[in-house]
Amino acid sequence: MKFINEANITFPSNSSNESFARMSVAAFVSQLDPTVEELAEIKTMVSEAVTNCVVHAYENTIGLVRIRVQISDSRAVRITVKDTGKGIEDVETAKQPCFTTGSEDRAGMGFTIMESFSDKLRVKSAPGRGTSVIMEKKIIKRG
Ligand SMILES: Nc1ncnc2c1ncn2[C@@H]1O[C@H](COP(=O)(O)OP(=O)(O)OP(=O)(O)O)[C@@H](O)[C@H]1O
Ligand SMILES: [Mg+2]
Repeated sequence: MKFINEANITFPSNSSNESFARMSVAAFVSQLDPTVEELAEIKTMVSEAVTNCVVHAYENTIGLVRIRVQISDSRAVRITVKDTGKGIEDVETAKQPCFTTGSEDRAGMGFTIMESFSDKLRVKSAPGRGTSVIMEKKIIKRG
């Protein structure tokens, strides 16, 4: 994949930064003239990934969340959300619908939602070192 543009955002894992993250990525992706639906899906993907950094990766602490958004020459968007938090022991299990290590108000549906809105989702994680979630989505050319 050949990338022709990118943006990088780094912020502390305060939940008050979630909407900033979602809107920043949406603003950058807007240059591809996405549909309202595509943009809503991208916002949701970012939201789920960032929420996981806030509530799971750093739990009761604050750490840095790094987002990289890349645009390819074929209109694919790659969004990487990276933390250096607690990591995931078993990624395949964590990705299953309804699996959660969180409290009762967690549905365990974040990865399932990210996967359904992405063309491709990859999760790289090392316990104690952190997690990277890499999501790709092609923005269809219209008109
Ligand atoms: N960045 C992360 N760092 C550490 N653990 C994570 C991270 N992201 C996900 N996990 C683990 O994977 C599990 C599944 O995540 P997922 O987003 O699918 O569900 P959830 O966050 O538990 O619930 P929901 O997203 O529906 O509120 C989490 O409960 C947590 O154990
Ligand atoms: Mg989640």
